Amino acid sequence: MPRSIILAGAALAVSLAAALPAHAADPAQIAVKAGCMACHAKDKKLFGPPFQDVAAKYRSDPTAPPRLADHVRKGSKGIWTKTLVMIPVPANKISDADLKAVIAWVLKQ
Ligand code: HEC
Repeated sequence: MPRSIILAGAALAVSLAAALPAHAADPAQIAVKAGCMACHAKDKKLFGPPFQDVAAKYRSDPTAPPRLADHVRKGSKGIWTKTLVMIPVPANKISDADLKAVIAWVLKQ
C-alpha cells in the first residue's frame, strides 16, 4: 500500500516534468528568430497587425490558436489588410511546437 503512494507520486512528477520542458525557450526570442518581428511589433503596425490587436481580436476565442497557426503556416491575406499578405512561414523556420508557443504568447500581448 505505501508502494502505490510512491507510484502515484512518481507519476505526478513525470507529468509535471512533461508540462515544463527543460529546454522551454522564451516565445519572444522564438518570434525574433523565426522572423515574425520583421513584420510584427507588439503595439505598432508594421507590415502585419500589432500583436496586441491580434490578441484583442482572438483572446476570448478558444478555437483561435489552431486557426492562427494555420494562417502563419499557409500565409494569410485580407483579414487585416487588403493590400499586404503574410507570406507562409514554413516548418524549417519555426517548428510546430515553437509556433504553438508563439501563438499563445501573441494572444497574451
Ligand atoms: C512578411 C511579413 C510577415 C512575416 C514574416 C510574418 N507576418 Fe504575420 N502577418 C503579416 C501580415 C501582412 C498579416 C495580415 C494578413 C491579413 O490581413 O490577412 C499578418 C497576420 C498575422 C496574424 C493574424 C492572422 C489572422 O488570422 O488574423 C498572426 C497571428 C501572425 N501574423 C503571426 C505571425 C507569426 C507568429 C509570424 C512568425 C512565425 C509572422 N506572423 C510572420 C505579415 C508577416
